[in-house]
Amino acid sequence: MARPAPSFICQTCGAAYNRWQGKCDACGEWNTLVEETAGGVGTSPATGRGGRRKGRLIALESLSGESPEAPRLASGMAELDRVTGGGFVPGSVILVGGDPGIGKSTLLTQAASLMARAGHRSVYISGEEAVAQVRLRASRLGLSDAKVQLAAETSVEDIVATLSQGEVPRLVVIDSIQTMWTDMVESAPGTVTQVRASAQALIRFAKKTGATLILVGHVTKDGQIAGPRVVEHMVDAVMSFEGEGSQQFRILRAVKNRFGPTDEIGVFEMTGEGLREVANPSELFLSERDLGSPGTAVFAGIEGTRPVLVELQALVAPSALGTPRRAVVGWEQSRLAMVLAVLEAHCGVRLAGHDVYLNVAGGLRIQEPAADLAAAAALVSSLANAPLPPDAVFFGEVSLSGAVRPVAQTAARLKEAQKLGFARAVLPEAARGEPGGASGLSLATVGALSSLVADIAAQGRPRPVRGPADDDDGGGKNATPSQFRNRRG
Ligand code: TYD
Ligand code: MG
Repeated sequence: MARPAPSFICQTCGAAYNRWQGKCDACGEWNTLVEETAGGVGTSPATGRGGRRKGRLIALESLSGESPEAPRLASGMAELDRVTGGGFVPGSVILVGGDPGIGKSTLLTQAASLMARAGHRSVYISGEEAVAQVRLRASRLGLSDAKVQLAAETSVEDIVATLSQGEVPRLVVIDSIQTMWTDMVESAPGTVTQVRASAQALIRFAKKTGATLILVGHVTKDGQIAGPRVVEHMVDAVMSFEGEGSQQFRILRAVKNRFGPTDEIGVFEMTGEGLREVANPSELFLSERDLGSPGTAVFAGIEGTRPVLVELQALVAPSALGTPRRAVVGWEQSRLAMVLAVLEAHCGVRLAGHDVYLNVAGGLRIQEPAADLAAAAALVSSLANAPLPPDAVFFGEVSLSGAVRPVAQTAARLKEAQKLGFARAVLPEAARGEPGGASGLSLATVGALSSLVADIAAQGRPRPVRGPADDDDGGGKNATPSQFRNRRG
């Protein structure tokens, strides 16, 4: 006898159970099981409940053999092409996630319009906004003349039927996948089963016809593409569109890409006329620098194949709390904790009574360990009230022993720094022999973090303003001696 089909589906991870329970065993989330009608995904009326279809023989191939390089269709936006790996691959499916209001619809309206202007059939289906709203956005973007085919629709069957009419579309944008529903399953729109079945039907259309399909996905509070983690496995590429709401920079990052690299970023600026591509992100990230103030260090980083200079800002201040705060924006919390521990253990820096804040300017999120040295420099600079030289860049990984370790692509980092007018670089000792020496920068190599800390601390200045209530040991004198136990390290 057939087992009853499981019908309680976790809305976070898609795990299925045949009984309700409070906690999902698969992902550990509470209260995420929702009863959905059995029958499930991919049950089409023709092959479903009734008799099973007899299998057709498929041709099995060998691993070797000719397969033509996937042809690419340039989107007309260089930053978008950089992230996709050189343009849209026909028949591929891209999931674009991001917070509400970050600019997903704007980005995709622009991409669809550029494709239409290049003479390709380009379709934009909005399940969230009315046609008038999409038109309003297009006119704001100055794209009203582009021959994008637009519809406000949520029924997958109707959409696929429409797309199948006439010339095969080269680009189809579905905004968003959470609003789509299909007759094939009976669950409510937005549930995992619906989203998965709708995505499957649309993906099948893309694979069959060679259209490039872009699905917009909503993001939950903790940054996951809502509900359909399952959809992430079904698509060829997952991209996340990020940025601080208050800032105009937007970063498109590939999280998964079957046809290209996953470490490239595309940088955009949100303007009154839509998203503008930023070909040289370093200039943008350094445009509002606070020259000569303590606590800032310029990090020469690499994002994908492109060097990016960005300012790290630190604030180390006496804490009124029993457990001082450690807050970081744009970098990993665990990485900051490690750098702080190394500063305490090997460099004689006392941070226990201090709140520590670290911020990556411009809304960029850094993932490289190469930022350790710049972060340490910014932190010590803030603590000692010692501004770092404004014409210096920093990079290098710090090990738990306090040694500064070399990082990849020294030459590219130095070249970018020189291009932007920097005069010196502080970098790991082991990088001395690398060809980057030809960059024309004056190089200061660091073998141990403690020596850099001692140098910065030696430049420390008295803090300018001290309130009468502030009666700690410094008493208006130079803060350095009390915070740095052994300056020799
Ligand atoms: P939108 O693309 O609707 O975001 P999403 O689809 O990710 O929810 O963008 C919404 C925000 O972008 C909105 O706050 C207004 C702003 N915006 C501009 O600043 N300039 C523009 O040209 C457009 C179209 C939007
Ligand atoms: Mg939108």
